[in-house]
Amino acid sequence: MKFLLGSFALLSGTTTTAFSPVQSNTNVIRSPSQLAASGGKMSVRPIGIGSAAPSTLITNIDLESVHDTSDEWIQTRTGISERRVLVHDGTRSVIHASADGTKVDSEVNENLRTLGIEAAKDALAMSGISASDIDLVICATSSPDDLFGDAPSIAHAIGCDSSKCAAFDLTAACSGFLFGIITAAQFLNGQGNGAKNALVLGADALTRWVDWEDRNSCILFGEGAGAMVLKSSGDFAEPDSDEEYGILGYAMHSNGGGYMDLKCNYRGEPKKISTPGEGIVVHDGSYDMMTMNGRKVYSFATREVPTVLDEALKQAGISVEEVDHLLLHQANIRIMETVANRLGIPMEKVITNLYKYGNTSAASIPLALDEAVRTGRVKKGDVIACAGFGAGLSWGAAILKWG
Ligand code: ACO
Repeated sequence: MKFLLGSFALLSGTTTTAFSPVQSNTNVIRSPSQLAASGGKMSVRPIGIGSAAPSTLITNIDLESVHDTSDEWIQTRTGISERRVLVHDGTRSVIHASADGTKVDSEVNENLRTLGIEAAKDALAMSGISASDIDLVICATSSPDDLFGDAPSIAHAIGCDSSKCAAFDLTAACSGFLFGIITAAQFLNGQGNGAKNALVLGADALTRWVDWEDRNSCILFGEGAGAMVLKSSGDFAEPDSDEEYGILGYAMHSNGGGYMDLKCNYRGEPKKISTPGEGIVVHDGSYDMMTMNGRKVYSFATREVPTVLDEALKQAGISVEEVDHLLLHQANIRIMETVANRLGIPMEKVITNLYKYGNTSAASIPLALDEAVRTGRVKKGDVIACAGFGAGLSWGAAILKWG
């Protein structure tokens, strides 16, 4: 596959600039620290979804033993009851086919990669597409098992063909999955690069990086992985239907001016190496624990998410009334209520499973969508308005027509 990287330039400056092909809103004036991209329909259909979460559960009641907190406080302020976490030396059992086709149950290490592999296999099975036909794998994560990226090893484990499939990680915190599907869609929608099928994962293990001494933040997060298969819709012939499926419109933004409100910074301890003379002090690398200004992130999310959804809906040419489901990054039920209220969308249309997983960062949107599709709540042809937001600061929205 040859990628058209030339069409993929993201520009900053005083005007909003879009990926190609564009339907850009050139009147919007932004500060130089902001980047933005938006656009209308891309011929890319979401056709498979899968997810996985660790086996270990921590309930709010469990956290009452760790902190001066209560189940009542956490539920009222966040909507979270429990979360799944990766534990040290944890294992999970997986079922796979042996060489003679029989099903074999085996124990594997439970880590972010194994969750991603399971989610990816589920999404592929739903899509009916073989791993060997996947051209692009993007793993959206801020907490990979391997700092150099988990996407290539996940692609290898599920059976992608390394002679044609490119795989890389993408870091955009809780906006990562949204940014990932928009990025994949640029390749699938592009002319001439030959990419037909993409697998986009959202996978995070932020409890590895939370400060367990900080009751403001440690109650929020959990682990999980989700995956979506996207297909270039040029392949679909539906002569009896004028229906347009896929990404109908999107918008994405970032503003590094607010990065200190939610961060997990590199920290190097001094390490002396004995080069000739007095030696050189290099870094012995590690990361600080995550820090978050909860109130600032809350007001950022409730301010920007309705606006970016409005922007994506305009790009899609879809009215709020035509939205069947609102699916936001699962951070806090009060954020979802405020955003739904500001857009005039009733809570019955809001998809959420936050109460049982907490904030799973890049995994939260596919984890909730997988459940909604598999329980029959989301049906083929439904319009889903999705938005992600989080560290960076970053935020984005996509209007999907499922199927
Ligand atoms: N249990 C009991 N009391 C608590 C707890 C707790 N776990 N945490 C904080 N409190 C106390 C505070 O100390 C404070 O007490 P005080 O009034 O005596 O000072 C009081 O509760 C109220 O604190 P607030 O910070 O005002 O609580 P708020 O209602 O804002 O809720 C929360 C805090 C849940 C963190 C909220 O601000 C929030 O959800 N913010 C958004 C966070 C978010 O979405 N982050 C993820 C982004 S995604 C990513 O990119 C990783």
